[in-house]
Amino acid sequence: MLCLGIETSCDDTSLALVADAEILGQETWSQNELHALFGGVVPELASREHAKNIGGLFDRLLERTGVRAEDIELVCPARGPGLLGSLLVGVAFAKAFALGRSVRFIGINHLHAHVFAAGLKNKLTLPALALLVSGGHTLLYRVEGPDEFAVLGKSFDDAAGEAFDKAGKMLGLPYPAGRHIDRLAQDGVEEARLFPRPHTGKDNLDFSFSGLKTAMWLHVSRHPELKASFDVQSGELSLPRDRQTRQSLADTCASYRQAVVDCLCLRVEEALNGRENADVQSLILAGGVAANSLLRPSVGKIAAKRGLEFNVPPPELCADNGAMIAYLGSLLADMGYEHDLDMRAVPRGTPVPQDMFRSGQGGLGSKRV
Ligand code: KG4
Ligand code: ZN
Repeated sequence: MLCLGIETSCDDTSLALVADAEILGQETWSQNELHALFGGVVPELASREHAKNIGGLFDRLLERTGVRAEDIELVCPARGPGLLGSLLVGVAFAKAFALGRSVRFIGINHLHAHVFAAGLKNKLTLPALALLVSGGHTLLYRVEGPDEFAVLGKSFDDAAGEAFDKAGKMLGLPYPAGRHIDRLAQDGVEEARLFPRPHTGKDNLDFSFSGLKTAMWLHVSRHPELKASFDVQSGELSLPRDRQTRQSLADTCASYRQAVVDCLCLRVEEALNGRENADVQSLILAGGVAANSLLRPSVGKIAAKRGLEFNVPPPELCADNGAMIAYLGSLLADMGYEHDLDMRAVPRGTPVPQDMFRSGQGGLGSKRV
């Protein structure tokens, strides 16, 4: 089935065409440079950028793939969670397309799509345990199928990506800072005990990263020299001139990265130790933070130790992208699911309802209007 996937949940506009788990083409416009001026995503600007770019990206996608609009059989926008103004641009575009061309339509849970992104390269073996780490979410899922996710644990404050981004801001790094901390950490040596491992050892599988952020704030206020500087006009990042200070900055990044990775891996191990997960066949790592060069091998080692298959998308499919939306959409369509065009976008903080219905069965949860 030829599916058009549309991702506009935050600050990337990304459209992709996927057929039988193969990406025929993908066009993405990242707004990182714009939001770096403000040190974080400005929602109103994000939705304006989506509205400005989505039509042109669609035209270019058709042009580059040689696919005709009339060949598209299914259209899937990211439905949520995300910034409402941003989501609405993609959802409205997809609804207009579905209505105008009379094709099937399914609104996709953005988080579930991140998890299935790994399936674009390797068919996933289920049931799986999935660690989803992005800028807005940190979740541990047990995954039974494209329509069956159980949340085992989640962060009750900052997400792992947010912990990287906010710490990076304190160190003078540009937004989003995760990849910069990761890069600097590669030249650093971990100082054990510099940062805590918050909320580990409790009797649940939840995460907390706000204590780590506070620890970074304290560390930076004691060592104000540990600052990079970023020129928003030229896009140039300057590190401290003095070699020793530069090394301390790298060591700080290495220690912080290790602390985040330890907190995540500990929960993965604990979830796998649970008797209820003894039947898990594979371990999935997903979301923007899954691009982290320490987290990938660390989670991979856990899988290898337990003889589990390990699935992680290539770095370019860890970040928000239209292909993951299209892929999960086509799996759900193969199971017979669709949405009515009265489906609503779901902002961050509101659970995404399971209100798809199977063709011919009428809406399950969605009220027809
Ligand atoms: O999944 P994603 O692209 O967008 C959301 O849905 O949030 O994730 C973005 C997050 C940002 O917080 C970014 O700093 C983080 O992923 N990130 C990284 C790395 N690359 C991106 N964090 C740590 N290490 C990286 N290499
Ligand atoms: Zn995302």
